[in-house]
Amino acid sequence: MRGRQVVSLLAAGLTVACSASNSATGADNAGGREVPIASNPPAAARSVSAATAGTTGIGDPYFPGDGNGGYDVTHYALALAYEPRSKHLGGSATIDAKATQELSQFNLDLHGFTVSAVTVNGRPAQFERHGDELTIFSDLRDGAAFKVAVAYAGTPDPVQNSSNLGSYGFIPTTDGAFVTCEPNGAKTWFPSNDHPSDKATFDFTLTVPEGVTAIANGELAGTPQTKDGKITFVWRESNPMVTYLATMTTGKFQVRTGDSPGGIPVYAATDPRFSKSLNSLYDQSARITDYWTTVFGPYPFKYTGGVVDDFAAGYALENQTKPIYGGFEPDEGIIAHELAHQWFGNSLSINRWKDLWLNEGFATYAEWLWSEHRGNGTAQQSFEDAYASATDEIWKYPPGVTRPNDLFNASVYVRGGMALHALRTEIGDTKFFPLLKKWTADHRYGNVTTEQFIDLAEKTSGEQLDDLFDAWLFKPAKPASVG
Ligand code: TRP
Ligand code: ZN
Repeated sequence: MRGRQVVSLLAAGLTVACSASNSATGADNAGGREVPIASNPPAAARSVSAATAGTTGIGDPYFPGDGNGGYDVTHYALALAYEPRSKHLGGSATIDAKATQELSQFNLDLHGFTVSAVTVNGRPAQFERHGDELTIFSDLRDGAAFKVAVAYAGTPDPVQNSSNLGSYGFIPTTDGAFVTCEPNGAKTWFPSNDHPSDKATFDFTLTVPEGVTAIANGELAGTPQTKDGKITFVWRESNPMVTYLATMTTGKFQVRTGDSPGGIPVYAATDPRFSKSLNSLYDQSARITDYWTTVFGPYPFKYTGGVVDDFAAGYALENQTKPIYGGFEPDEGIIAHELAHQWFGNSLSINRWKDLWLNEGFATYAEWLWSEHRGNGTAQQSFEDAYASATDEIWKYPPGVTRPNDLFNASVYVRGGMALHALRTEIGDTKFFPLLKKWTADHRYGNVTTEQFIDLAEKTSGEQLDDLFDAWLFKPAKPASVG
């Protein structure tokens, strides 16, 4: 089917837009206040020097509160218990990081919860809460590896933004939780450097009532252990992951596991209300992942698959190794989209939100490539349909220019996809497809920028492509059609 290019967000009639700023104002909840506790040493002991304070944002110009400066996270170990009936989440986050400057204090992003204790390298550290910033006081040398552990508990308070993406983050449901965090909702369930430019490995030790399944990224480490009416799932994501792709989706699920025909391990899970979709979710996810390896290069992760939950989000998110579909049976177009993100967005992640088209434009183009592969219309036809039906908005707002209050706007998806088709038309299939594979190989598990993609496209093709990219990504005007 064509003419449905913005499928992931628009399929369910959701208006695309998203305020990714740290502006969860109004959502300032009880847990968000400052929490003085006995183990928090007195303020007089603090050494506060602006020069050695990690910044409260990582430096994304349009999203100044997101992420933090002064350190790099290498690993998150989350040990959390969730009680669906009371919506209580509690436990600890133990974070391995490395200082990138001399530090006297640094921040983590955390929204809500009561923090009961913080240690740095095993020693109690003083801390403060200011809005969604958790400030931790500790003297660290530039380059020092350190371990920070945060004990916290409370009721998760997802980001609410009715004018755009609805809610995102840790969203309690009747039988568990639906956890989708793009762009900055990780802070609604664990303290983190909540920005895609800081990738880390993860492990998750998740305890829920017996009968409930807790699904996180990567692979299950061993058989879940049952004790006193509770069950603990241990998941491990051993490849770098951005915070917004982390999940601990929980609830009643039916699960099917196995290997794709191409030999990639598959984990598929459906809420009982979608049990009739389990086999098609499993089969299509397996088949599409295998096909993408022939187009984009080796699968970057240890598992593929997907989760269908009954929370009526109406959208999907490309959670690493396990895209999640919120309240609908996914068709192959959206599965193709979310699985393409495993390469574009997940293995290769953006450094700044302004480059979001590198995720969404590529995933949209992947939908067109999937249709072409399936004989349901060529990418050229999809391009023509998109071009003909594009709104004035799409021509007015180019995908390479950020709209911070409407981050996931249709241009990022549709005109981003059209930009890739224009590139393919210009340089030809014999250069375009090797370019895609070289792009994913050169930056596997890394962070990327639009400039790097343009450079590689020019190098691969031997052509000057500034005008093409200018017209499709940066100019507020309708480019001429191609093909
Ligand atoms: N990246 C999603 C997609 O596949 C869209 C999206 C953005 C999203 N933010 C989200 C989905 C939050 C769920 C929750 O196009
Ligand atoms: Zn997408």
